[in-house]
Amino acid sequence: MVKASLMAMVLMSVCISSLISFALAVEKFKVVGKVYCDTCRVEFETKLSEPIPGATVKLECRKVRDEAVTYSREAVTNATGGYSIPVEGDHEAEICKVSVEKSPRADCNEKMEAWEKSQVELTTQDGLADPITTANNLGFKKKEALPGCPQVLKDMGFPLTP
Ligand SMILES: *[C@@H]1O[C@H](CO)[C@@H](O)[C@H](O)[C@H]1NC(C)=O
Repeated sequence: MVKASLMAMVLMSVCISSLISFALAVEKFKVVGKVYCDTCRVEFETKLSEPIPGATVKLECRKVRDEAVTYSREAVTNATGGYSIPVEGDHEAEICKVSVEKSPRADCNEKMEAWEKSQVELTTQDGLADPITTANNLGFKKKEALPGCPQVLKDMGFPLTP
């Protein structure tokens, strides 16, 4: 008897809390993006840049006023280096950023400022219509540049470095 009523209470509270979270935390946005390996160590994309599957990224929103964290979610990139992070609620007057956290590749795990973070707008208050926000590409720098890099960079119009 005690067991049964306890069970009922647990079930009821699960129902209520999921109803509440459904009402309060409707998924409004999605942040999508890709994580690459900078195989030429140049901090911009080349045709030799490789997508990194299994990389961890984190979306974090902070209040502009006191920098308190209001939302935080992690995701792992799929086979093509892509990720998709659901966003609940509206994040007006907040600064939201996606950042790379962890690389699964030992040969490509160096963080660099240019590809470490991307700021995203996650509010409908300023008339943003698209529920899917695409972040700038993120990535890690490879420990050693690929042998094909000098030619690729030359083709892109950069002088060969001795
Ligand atoms: C990887 O994730 C991206 C972003 O969600 C998606 O567009 C793409 O179709 C996914 N690819 C695979 C192979 O699942």
